Amino acid sequence: MKIVLYTQDEVLLDILSIAIESTLSLKVEPATSDEEAMEVLKSKSDITVLVIDKEDELSPAIAQARKDKIPVIRLASVNGNIRPNNVVGEFVLVKPLVIQNFIELVRIASKDNTPKDDKFCKVRLDTLLLAGNTFSFDVYVRLSESKFVKVIQQGDAFDSGKYAHFAGKGLSSLFVPKESFLEYLRSMAATLSGSMTGDNQSFSLESAVDMSTKVHEAVYNSIQVFGITPEAQQVMKLTIDLAAHSIQKNPRLKELYRVLLNNQENFLAWHSIALCYIAGKISTLMSWDSQNTHYKISLAALMHDMALKKSEWSKANSLADLQKMGLTETEILEYTKHPLMAADLSKQMADYPGDVEFIIAQHHELPDGSGFPHHLNHTKISPLSALFIVAHDLCHKLYELGEVFDMLRFLEEFDQKYPLGYFQKIRQALEESIKNETI
Ligand SMILES: [Fe+2]
Ligand SMILES: [Fe+2]
Repeated sequence: MKIVLYTQDEVLLDILSIAIESTLSLKVEPATSDEEAMEVLKSKSDITVLVIDKEDELSPAIAQARKDKIPVIRLASVNGNIRPNNVVGEFVLVKPLVIQNFIELVRIASKDNTPKDDKFCKVRLDTLLLAGNTFSFDVYVRLSESKFVKVIQQGDAFDSGKYAHFAGKGLSSLFVPKESFLEYLRSMAATLSGSMTGDNQSFSLESAVDMSTKVHEAVYNSIQVFGITPEAQQVMKLTIDLAAHSIQKNPRLKELYRVLLNNQENFLAWHSIALCYIAGKISTLMSWDSQNTHYKISLAALMHDMALKKSEWSKANSLADLQKMGLTETEILEYTKHPLMAADLSKQMADYPGDVEFIIAQHHELPDGSGFPHHLNHTKISPLSALFIVAHDLCHKLYELGEVFDMLRFLEEFDQKYPLGYFQKIRQALEESIKNETI
């Protein structure tokens, strides 16, 4: 059975989805608008509850739920209409929510019969990475219906190495004692919302990049073993949200470069996260920063080198670099296929945005047609791909030059490499930003 969940607050959406799916036998159908929630209600017959974040009852989704006699849980702030309607099966919960009360209400409204006295709650392995590096609760693995064994002691470190250990054993979920479940949720919510509101100094740009780099390493390991899983997608989505919030809070490119000089131990992870932030930042400078565009570019950044057989191959910025690195001809041939293979991998994602595969497939093309794999020239390279190619090059230069990286120098070389098409618009945006940052 499913519930439809609509809220514009992405953090709340993630937290409530995880809370519901971890404690009840319900699957969440997220909706990105009131109208979409209505369409889901119309098209699916197994919806048992509508949860909607809405200050009043004027909603096409609520009207549809009433028509279909589906219970409604409306979330509203004290400034909204918090009086419950007389309609049977309609409830109002006042924000901020107490998760335990919310879960109980969903359980009652949906007539969910998951046994209340289960001693453990399932937690997705990937989300543990977002619940901090050490936990204030024990974590268990399930051996049989009723047998659980403790695998992480309260206070023990949990990092991408441990994540890879469990993922490598085919475990996508672990368990926490029921009494600790809210603590787990609180840890994760604190990590997420703290990083996004910036109220907490520990979730600075540095922390966001550090955390995202660790998570990305784990996602790469997981994708190598299991391919694209909902867990990997969920973590990438959270990483993208975090990057979007961090970029909003930190408008200067220079600051971004400074922070990105850290966390370079695992090149592929660093490079993908650096690209996620820099490409996102340039899209803002270009005013191509709608939520959808930002999401596409960021997802492409996280995925673009995922199909590389060896992660260290991502250090190459040209085919000549591969020869210097000592790759054989067969390996080089294999390398040249990685943009298309990664593009194919991205298509396996549920609800993937269409343009992502093109951005990934074109990330090694060049405007003069000397790139690979298809030798596309500037007339065939899409605007978003052009932005991505420049950001990718910039990340390589930043890694290569470190503290002596100079944006003016980068722009001087820019004209020789990218004289055509949309590339010149990107150059103008970068130049403009340098001027603004020096004022
Ligand atoms: Fe690549
Ligand atoms: Fe790359």
